[in-house]
Amino acid sequence: MAHLTLGIETSCDETAASILEDGRRVRSSVVASQDLLHAPYGGIVPELASRRHVEAIWPVVQEALTRAKVSVGDLDGIAATAGPGLIGSLLVGLCFGKALAFARNIPLVGVNHLEGHLYAALLDHEGLSFPFTGLVASGGHTHLYLATAPGDYRLLGRTRDDAAGEAFDKVAKFLGLGYPGGPLIEEWARKGDPNAVRFPRSVPPQGSFDFSFSGLKTAVVNYVKAAGGRRQEAVDSTPSPPRSTLHAVHDPTFVANICAGFQEAVVDVLVRVSVAAAKASVSSRLILAGGVACNGRLRSKLAERAVEHGIQVYYPTPSLCTDNAAMIAAAGYPRLLRGERAPLSLNADADLALGPA
Ligand code: KG4
Ligand code: ZN
Repeated sequence: MAHLTLGIETSCDETAASILEDGRRVRSSVVASQDLLHAPYGGIVPELASRRHVEAIWPVVQEALTRAKVSVGDLDGIAATAGPGLIGSLLVGLCFGKALAFARNIPLVGVNHLEGHLYAALLDHEGLSFPFTGLVASGGHTHLYLATAPGDYRLLGRTRDDAAGEAFDKVAKFLGLGYPGGPLIEEWARKGDPNAVRFPRSVPPQGSFDFSFSGLKTAVVNYVKAAGGRRQEAVDSTPSPPRSTLHAVHDPTFVANICAGFQEAVVDVLVRVSVAAAKASVSSRLILAGGVACNGRLRSKLAERAVEHGIQVYYPTPSLCTDNAAMIAAAGYPRLLRGERAPLSLNADADLALGPA
């Protein structure tokens, strides 16, 4: 008999549920995005996110069951994200999972969201196994791990300030491009010249695999302001444009070049540090996961560098890079199979670490 796992994910602004068969086959993966809800604010409003999760969680789970053609009674286990993330959001999915587990006497395990992102790549690549080096680059995290075995992770490096996706989102907000910023900046960058403006790269000292993106973000802001200032002097007393419409007053080529230069700088740093970490690691396998791993320029540049250094790179398909519940079910499955069962007292933890600190 096949083992059916229900995955539940509500750590941030996506309400997601998935039915996974035998830890591998995605029978359904439903993701209700809140992008439109948060877009007017240029970022996630935690209170709005948790309220929307409350409304969406049961319909999303029902939709996942329907698409997989199974009922609650067929489930063998539940895996729900327990952290890290926004506490109000996490609590909705975890409490829903615990209630369902209690009511139907189904085992439940709590899953670390970052472990879920790494498992997304394992789901997509049949032959891929531990050990590997894994980079999770998303809106909330830029964390590099050495993953030795299931459940055995060591943090190699992390961002010291903004996450890579956060930098994309903040720069897009500043340029008035919209939210989420990553895909929009990538689209603008395609029309720009990555060498037109060279933004600074923050590269960690020898032996460190940490990242930093806030200096880059400030460099973009300063560059655009300086260019805007010159333009305004030229047209005399034109009032300053509101921040959210900056791109409307600039030449589209200027905006495209800023996006291309910014994207190139982020990609350059992510590639350099993760390749260095993979080279220093026991394994030549490198996994790239999280929303930023959707970025085409990052994928192509990393592929190039990886070949030069004898490293094999694996990415999940884009729908599994961004937040989803199939990856949570995949990470929870081996533990459910071992008979693990979380107590009903299991709590969500906004700062849940993956591996020893
Ligand atoms: O993994 P994810 O869905 O949620 C978090 O756990 O944060 O990642 C969302 C982040 C956002 O910051 C978004 O701007 C970024 O991933 N992102 C991208 C791209 N697609 C999504 N960043 C760069 N290029 C993309 N194509
Ligand atoms: Zn995520």
